[in-house]
Amino acid sequence: MKKIILTGDRPTGKLHIGHYVGSLRRRVELQNAGDYDAMYVMIADAQALTDNADHPEKVRQNIIQVALDYLSCGLDPNKITIFIQSLVPQLTELSFYYMNLVTVSRLQRNPTVKSEIQMRDFEASIPVGFFTYPISQAADITAFHATAVPAGEDQKPMLEQTNEIVRKFNATYGETLTEAQILLPENQACLRLPGTDGKAKMSKSLGNCIYLSDSPEEVRQKVMNMFTDPTHLKVSDPGHIEGNTVFTYLDAFCKDEHFAQFCPDYQNLDEMKAHYQRGGLGDVKVKKFLNQVIQSELEPIRRRRAKYEADIPFVLDVLKAGSEKAAKVAQQTLDEVRAAMKLNYFDTDEFAKEQLALFSKS
Ligand code: TRP
Repeated sequence: MKKIILTGDRPTGKLHIGHYVGSLRRRVELQNAGDYDAMYVMIADAQALTDNADHPEKVRQNIIQVALDYLSCGLDPNKITIFIQSLVPQLTELSFYYMNLVTVSRLQRNPTVKSEIQMRDFEASIPVGFFTYPISQAADITAFHATAVPAGEDQKPMLEQTNEIVRKFNATYGETLTEAQILLPENQACLRLPGTDGKAKMSKSLGNCIYLSDSPEEVRQKVMNMFTDPTHLKVSDPGHIEGNTVFTYLDAFCKDEHFAQFCPDYQNLDEMKAHYQRGGLGDVKVKKFLNQVIQSELEPIRRRRAKYEADIPFVLDVLKAGSEKAAKVAQQTLDEVRAAMKLNYFDTDEFAKEQLALFSKS
């Protein structure tokens, strides 16, 4: 079986370092390892509209932001296809057919949909498009016969729902669609990077994000203001690692080489943690180290961003060409789906023959 990777993001804002450790970094590694037959990365504008119907301009503005974030992280349009969801209308037709294979109660039980409904205060009036977005996500994934989806933990229920649709479709209409597997980050800290304030998730509305496009000074300030251990008042006090955002970020970002480069007092993170827990290691020193680690990770990303920002026509070409390519691939799958569902009336002469036989008065 072919190895096909598909993933995407809603263009509702610039991407932050939570996206980076949760999925972007992995995508770039997968791309560069080259161990796949095709890789697609989608800017999910249609999905973004399911909870931003009143803000089309917000979605429109963020298309280019997300594209710049992708390219500056090292996604390479010569190796992979980057595209815009709404420019692949085949996806909506697939969704329409898949809707018959999913029940309302199954969607109500989808944990991601459930928590998002709460977060958005949609309880009283849920937009149908929003409620059914797991179905459209199944279309996104299956349209490319994706076998692997690198994404964050919150996308797990989407993959389960997708695979249920695949099995139901194949059982009903014959083997057509391909099941996909989610690729989660292995590192616990990367699975769900907290906000700089220690809250469970980075979110734009909480103002607790470090963006990939932040300036060095913005990053430094955010790191120096980060939530640590509230009981660690004096440097000599023993400190706690659990729930200490600075150490969670170090878990997500730091490598042994960073110690050699920026903080040779320690060989590795375990040694630094042990000192902090013993007492005698101040937050400022740890934060300064974290700042250097994050800056060194963001440096090449910033450099690439500056290059692409100076060549926006190139970025637009990438999106246009990628979307055309994606639409071709999705059309093939749609043809297969229509054939399986017996909707391919004029693709062969079979339908004409059947009808002729039915109505011929011999
Ligand atoms: N739901 C994803 C997000 O919130 C975006 C997305 C849409 C996606 N379709 C997808 C992710 C298919 C992976 C696969 O960012």
